Formats: sequence, C-alpha cells, structure tokens
Amino acid sequence: CSLIPYHSFGLQSTAKALVEIHTPEELREVYFAPDYRDVPKLVLGSGSNTVFLQPFDGLIIINRILGRHQQPTEDGVLVHLGAGEDWHTAVMWSLAEGIHGLENLALIPGTAGAAPVQNIGAYGVEFASVCAYVDVLEIDSGETRRLNASDCQFGYRDSIFKGELKDKVVIVGVGLRLSRDWKPQLAYGPLKTLQSQQALSAAAVAEHIMLVRRQKLPDPKLLGNAGSFFKNPVVSQAVYLDLKQRYPEMPAFASGANGNMKLAAGWLIDQAGLKGYRHQGVGVHEQQALVLVNYGNGTADELISLATKVATEVQSRFGVTLIPEVRLLDRTGNQHWGSHAE
Ligand code: EPU
Repeated sequence: CSLIPYHSFGLQSTAKALVEIHTPEELREVYFAPDYRDVPKLVLGSGSNTVFLQPFDGLIIINRILGRHQQPTEDGVLVHLGAGEDWHTAVMWSLAEGIHGLENLALIPGTAGAAPVQNIGAYGVEFASVCAYVDVLEIDSGETRRLNASDCQFGYRDSIFKGELKDKVVIVGVGLRLSRDWKPQLAYGPLKTLQSQQALSAAAVAEHIMLVRRQKLPDPKLLGNAGSFFKNPVVSQAVYLDLKQRYPEMPAFASGANGNMKLAAGWLIDQAGLKGYRHQGVGVHEQQALVLVNYGNGTADELISLATKVATEVQSRFGVTLIPEVRLLDRTGNQHWGSHAE
C-alpha cells in the first residue's frame, strides 16, 4: 500500500502491509501473529520525522492507542497520554483543562508516543523536562513495563529508544508531571518580547509560539516536510571560538557543562547561501533553512542529493559536520546516515 498518507514528507513509497492498532493487546497480537513473524516491522505515529528512502519490505504498524487522563498530585498534575494521541491536540487539551507547562511545545507535529524517542523540544523546553514515565511493550517478553524518566537517557534529540532499546520496545503511553507552581519559560529568542507582560497566561504563550512557528515552519499538509532535517551541531569551545572570530554574529548556545556549544544549523545553511535553494522536486525552505521541503513530486534520490549538498557546503565553509535529525530508512527499516551509532 502507499505510504503517502502516513508520513509528512510525502515521498512516493510503499509498504508490503499496514495495520492500525488501538490497544496494547492489539499491538501484541499483530507483533506476534504468525503471518508477520519474520517480516521487518516499523511502528509509526504520524510519520512526521521519518523518510522512506526505499519501498518498505514489511509491515507498518500505525499506533493509534488513545487516551488522555489526569490525576492530581501533591504539587500539580500527572497527565497520561496514549502513545497514539496527537501531541499538539494534547497540548491544547491540557491548556483548556487549566494544566500549565506544555505551552512551549505547542504545534510540534507528531504523536505523544513519538515524543520521547527524539526528546522533542522547542523554545527552551524539552519532553525530558516534563516526563514522569514512558510505558513500553517489550518485544521479547510481550510484557508491558514502565520506565522512569531517569531510565530514558534523554539528551538533545536523543534517548534510550534510539539506542539500547531501539527495536526492542514499542512505546504505548507517556506520563507527564506538571507542577502547579508554574512560571512561563521565556528565555528563548522570540519569546523575549513577552517578558514585560504582566499576568501572562500559558494559553497566551502557546498562541505566541503558534504564531512564530507558523511564520517559519511550513505546514506539512501544504508542503511536505519533516521539521528540522539536521540536528543543531555541538562543537568544542575551541572550534566555537575560532568560528566566532570569523563570524561575530553567529548564534550559539551553551550545551552541557563542558564548554561545548550548540550552533544553529539553520544559520550555517543560510550563510552558505542555500536558503530557498531548489533541487528538482525538493528544496531548502525559504523561511527556515533547517527544513527541507517536498514541492510535491520530489523523490528520495533528489532529497538525498540535496541533503548531501547542504552538508558538504556547510562542511567546506565552516568545517562543521551536519547529521540528519530525521530518520532516513531503507527497505528493512535500517537507518542511514545519522543512526545512533555514528
Ligand atoms: N537562523 C537563520 N537562518 C535560518 C534559520 C535560522 O539565520 O534560515 C538562525 C535564527 O535566526 C536563530 C538561529 O538560527 O538565531 C536558530 O533558529 P531557530 O530559532 O529558528 O531554531 P532552530 O535552531 O533552527 C530548533 C529546533 C526546532 C525548534 C526550534 C525552536 C533542532 C534541530 N531544531 O530549530 O525543532 O522548533 O529550535 O526551539 O533542534 C525539529 O526538531 O523538527 C524542530 C523544528
């Protein structure tokens, strides 16, 4: 069947078979069904961070485990989301319920179950900072298990689900711990304009973030894309200082305690003159150079040659290596260029 409706980049691709599951039990049944025993399997939420480079030679499982629950705690609320819940819809629901703390993560595409995998983040807040637990189905044992946030090895766009537990578990739900003692997080560039406002509500922060995102980030329903295509590169202090001398206006952010700095890949690509650059059916987005887009008839080959050109230009101009943030999958679901091991 065609995968076009199941991933946001919208490249032509197919899978041998596809099923939608609605409960952890259905997931278990499908996973262990004799028909599918020996075929590669890939679980997708809404496919907003996945690109198929080849026809997928196996079974795609669409995770539609739903459910949104809240439960009071001593100092706030514990929210449980089924893995198949749409992330943005859940954020808007939480705000309508008077729960604060997810507003900076409004309008991030994808599902709740995908959020921990790459530790989604935006405007100074990450999934890791609100995560209480992640519920998983263990493929070997068929049992469900709860991982605490501290077990998940969260890092910048990284977690245990990309490493040790890759292909070993399927996420079936997530728990979020939100404190009643709420303060808006406004340190990140485009939110600074809100700092002077008195009695700012979480809903107002979300509105502002949606405005900023809509200006820069293309709506995948209108223009195929998978959000940031590359990760922001982390470099040593020495590399940073050398670049800063050559490009005093270069944006950078401290990353960890060892003096490493995170550079803005979008800025590097923009400075390399590639913003708005088109290569056949694909291109570099005109408003945000970190996003590669599909103009409607792009192919995987075109996308790879565009991404390679972008990475090569940035490497030769700045000496900085870009690694894809999206998952680029081959016919058996193996990841190319930018897998966890690299
Ligand atoms: N910039 C440019 N030109 C561009 C793009 C960016 O000069 O074409 C500059 C900006 O002016 C800014 C800096 O680069 O000074 C950073 O840009 P921006 O604030 O737009 O954020 P980003 O670093 O490009 C990251 C995340 C986004 C997240 C935003 C907001 C990654 C890989 N990307 O992008 O996440 O929404 O910050 O917090 O970490 C995603 O992961 O898919 C994603 C969209």
